[in-house]
Amino acid sequence: MHVIKNIDNLRLWRDGLKEKGETLSFVPTMGALHDGHLSLVKEGLKQCDNVIVSIFVNPTQFAPHEDFDSYPRTIEDDIKKLQNIGVQAVWLPNIDDIYPNGAQSDIHIDGVSEPLEGEFRPHFFDGVATVVARLLRLVNPTVALFGEKDFQQLQVIKKMVHQENIDVEIIGAPIMRDENGLALSSRNIYLSAEEYKTAIQLNKILGEVANDQLDESSATQKLLNVGFDKVDYCTVRNSETFELEPPNRVLAAVWLGETRLIDNMAIR
Ligand code: PAJ
Repeated sequence: MHVIKNIDNLRLWRDGLKEKGETLSFVPTMGALHDGHLSLVKEGLKQCDNVIVSIFVNPTQFAPHEDFDSYPRTIEDDIKKLQNIGVQAVWLPNIDDIYPNGAQSDIHIDGVSEPLEGEFRPHFFDGVATVVARLLRLVNPTVALFGEKDFQQLQVIKKMVHQENIDVEIIGAPIMRDENGLALSSRNIYLSAEEYKTAIQLNKILGEVANDQLDESSATQKLLNVGFDKVDYCTVRNSETFELEPPNRVLAAVWLGETRLIDNMAIR
C-alpha cells in the first residue's frame, strides 16, 4: 500500500493509473477508522480497480468550541486496517496542500445544507463542501463513496459536485451499526459505559418513528425520558430536500454529556 504524504506523489500515482486505464474509488475520512469507514472501502474495492483513502481532520468544519484538537487521531492503526483489507493507497494531506491560502471555507450549498445540521452547526457544511471539493479535484477519482450515517452530508456533497462541475460519481453506502444497533462513529469512544446504555436507545426510538409507532414530538420526549441530555432535532423529512414533504426519512441529533450523536433511518 502506498502511503502518500505530498501532492506531487499523489499526482504521480494518479497519472500512473490513468496510463494503465484503471479506475479509482475514493473514500475521504477524518481517520479513527472503524468498520463503518471500512465498509465504504470494501464497496470502493468492488466498484473500481483501485481505492485511495484520505485521512485529514478538516479544521474548517469544526467551530471554535468543537472538538478539533481532541478529535481522535489513530494514524498507525488506521494504516494497518487499510493495509489488511487491500487498499492501494492512503493519502495523508497536510494543511497547506488543502488550504494554501489559509483554512477558510469558500463553498456554500443553498437549500439542503441549511436546515437540521446546518441550523445547529452553521459553519459545518461550508467546511465539508469546501474540503471535499478540494480533495476530489486533487484525487480526480472515478467514484467517491460516502456513508448514509451522515445522511445530510451525503446530499450536500451530491449537490456540491453538481454546482462545482466536478466530474465524479457519488455513491452512498448504508449505515454500519454495532451489535446493539448504535451507528458506528469515531466519537463513540467518548461515551462512558453508562452513556452507552442510553446511546443504544437512539436507533430503537428512530425505529419506532419509522414504523409509525411514535410521532416526532413523542419521540423527542421519549429520547429525553430514556436519558439523553438534549435533543437538537428528531424529525421526519424528505430525504432529498430535507423539507417537510413528502416525508420519508427520520433524522435525529442528540446529546449525551459533551458527546453529540446523529442517526437516521428510512421510512417505508
Ligand atoms: P468521517 O466522520 O471520518 O467519515 C468518513 C466517511 O465514513 C463519511 O462518508 C461517513 O458518512 C462514513 N461513515 C462514518 N460512520 C459510518 C457508519 N457507521 N456507517 C457507514 N458509513 C459511515 O464524514 C467525514 O469524516 C468528513 O465530514 C469528511 C467527509 C471526510 C470531510 O471532512
